[in-house]
Amino acid sequence: GYAITNMLKETGNVAFDPGFMNTANARSAITYIDGNNGILRYRGYPIEELAQHSNFIETAYLLIYGELPTPSELEDFDTRIRRHTMVHEDLKSFFNGFPRNAHPMPVLSSAVSALSTFYADSLDPFDPEQVEISTIRLLAKVPTLAAYAYKKSKGEPMLYPQNDLNYTENFLRMCFGVPAEDYEIDPAMAKALDVLLMLHADHEQNCSTSTVRLVGSSHANMFASVSAGINALYGPLHGGANEAVLAMLNRIETQGVTPEDFMEQVKNKESGARLMGFGHRVYKNYDPRARIVKDYAHEILEKLGGNDQQLEIAMRLEEKALADDYFVERKLYPNVDFYTGLIYKAMGFPEKMFTVLFAIGRLPGWVAQWREMIEDPETKIGRPRQLYVGEGERHYPQR
Ligand code: ACO
Repeated sequence: GYAITNMLKETGNVAFDPGFMNTANARSAITYIDGNNGILRYRGYPIEELAQHSNFIETAYLLIYGELPTPSELEDFDTRIRRHTMVHEDLKSFFNGFPRNAHPMPVLSSAVSALSTFYADSLDPFDPEQVEISTIRLLAKVPTLAAYAYKKSKGEPMLYPQNDLNYTENFLRMCFGVPAEDYEIDPAMAKALDVLLMLHADHEQNCSTSTVRLVGSSHANMFASVSAGINALYGPLHGGANEAVLAMLNRIETQGVTPEDFMEQVKNKESGARLMGFGHRVYKNYDPRARIVKDYAHEILEKLGGNDQQLEIAMRLEEKALADDYFVERKLYPNVDFYTGLIYKAMGFPEKMFTVLFAIGRLPGWVAQWREMIEDPETKIGRPRQLYVGEGERHYPQR
């Protein structure tokens, strides 16, 4: 069925292309992926060089404005973001309306959607100044809202942002700090989180980014479009894979299954088991982000005392898979999610926050793609066609 459903079928004037596997919906100058060779570049810069030399805020600037900032441009961008980290006090009361055990993703998307009501002065998609202020507001406020969603799930008081801290430090403190106590920043942890966010910052026309563009194509404002992107990312097939990797490693560890036995289960299709964190729709080679994350996993787990046993299991699984014909023939390699969950867990984040961290990371990409979409004179409202397979004309019975 796979080959048939994914084949581009010409049906009159309409191309049937489920999952848009063969449809380019945008012309974009932001991110380049060569899946066969495992290449990822933001605005032409290889992801490996950015991970080594840049940081999340600088990379956000690069994605959104197209060039690396000069030192003064970077300082100005960073300062503007720091000034906007607070959210309106009334917005905080929203969080009290959700059940205590609410998942933080829908809480975050609701809060981001509500930004349209609090910042109604910046909703015009064709006013460059309003687009600019919405950009800064989103980058600044999403981590605050994400930390509030987390605090809500813990039943702990929310902390105001502390703007002498950088982007990731501020977020970590808002998540893990307690009022009236100093929160000691662990620079290694803040740096590792910064790199992970950067690696997630854009990935061209994935499900959530296409959603942001589609919603924005009706000229809905940036807050509304990004909120829709967060909802798309919430789905387990998109943002939830790192949670699934951790669940798999937990199962292997606690049930005493050897990685070798687990691999046999995966290869036996009837078992239905998949090696989570392996395989990718676009990468048919090692996901370049996964290589970088793997190095950080070693470093950070050593420093933070994460679960070494599970890292061992993950590495054994990877080693076995890379040498196994089943995986080689199907071009299945580790994707970015294979090691990220282990790092997030070592940092102290519960599993349901993993997708929220992905959302914070992907935000600059959503913003950059929304702006590119709105500025492109060839953009049209997104409106796919369909292949109608229902009844022909029939008549209402005369009773
Ligand atoms: N473990 C075992 N077998 C696999 C795996 C896996 N992780 N992934 C793919 N395969 C096999 C399939 O069974 C299929 O085999 P067949 O040709 O004998 O039928 C073949 O490889 C092709 O797989 P498809 O599912 O058709 O490939 P598709 O491009 O549709 O799926 C996907 C890609 C969804 C990522 C898939 O590889 C998968 O389910 N991986 C595990 C989940 C995961 O890690 N998702 C994260 C994606 S990255 C992200 O969202 C940031």
